[in-house]
Amino acid sequence: MLAVRDLTKRFRGPNNEVRALDGVSFDLAPGDFLAIQGTSGSGKTTLLLACGALQRPDGGSISIEGQNPYALSAEERTRFRARHIGFVFQQFHLIPYLTVLENVLSPLLALDDAGAKARALELLQRFRIQDRADHLPAHLSTGERQRTALARALLHRPKLILADEPTGNLDAQNADAVIDGLRELAAQGTAILMVTHDNRLAARAGRTLAMERGKWKVAG
Ligand SMILES: Nc1ncnc2c1ncn2[C@@H]1O[C@H](COP(=O)(O)OP(=O)(O)O)[C@@H](O)[C@H]1O
Ligand SMILES: [Mg+2]
Repeated sequence: MLAVRDLTKRFRGPNNEVRALDGVSFDLAPGDFLAIQGTSGSGKTTLLLACGALQRPDGGSISIEGQNPYALSAEERTRFRARHIGFVFQQFHLIPYLTVLENVLSPLLALDDAGAKARALELLQRFRIQDRADHLPAHLSTGERQRTALARALLHRPKLILADEPTGNLDAQNADAVIDGLRELAAQGTAILMVTHDNRLAARAGRTLAMERGKWKVAG
């Protein structure tokens, strides 16, 4: 599903260079649920963006379903992302002037997909926000906003989910609901890469790795 080899990424500051990724390798098979931990600045978001075909690494390779997304043109890469990857971020990135239902439908609005609305309604039901379908994000609780973002990420049935602190703004009960949803998806064969600070939630993933200064932290 996802194969990452020896990934490197450097950022140039005014007088120093940060090695945000310094030789990261791992594999994710269908149904794998991997949690990534590590202190702030250790490279977690950079890794997620690189895996999501959103930020080109300096070195190493990424293969998603056997394809290197960075070998594609920018336009093809956008389509590749839309087809294969679902993103969930800590800041939900909902579109403020669209309703819950329209937000969930937004990845497919341009495609005029007849089945999309039925599937969106099914997802609203699954995450218990069906009675919020016509509300604007501003009128939702934080937990409802994140569940809307999760439903949107799942609309096109991505094989790979990339989640950056998806529970960061949620209380324990809502965080558990999001993790339950992710676990259920993994059980159905979706590969999930989730960054989290929360040890309790990380323990509910299938596997945990920690980053430190752009590398996997070696235990002990
Ligand atoms: N776009 C960028 N420009 C410059 N430096 C960056 C950029 N993105 C990340 N960094 C630096 O790379 C390091 C890793 O950042 P990040 O991946 O966001 O860490 P984390 O998500 O683990 O907190 C940090 O030192 C950060 O300041
Ligand atoms: Mg981060």
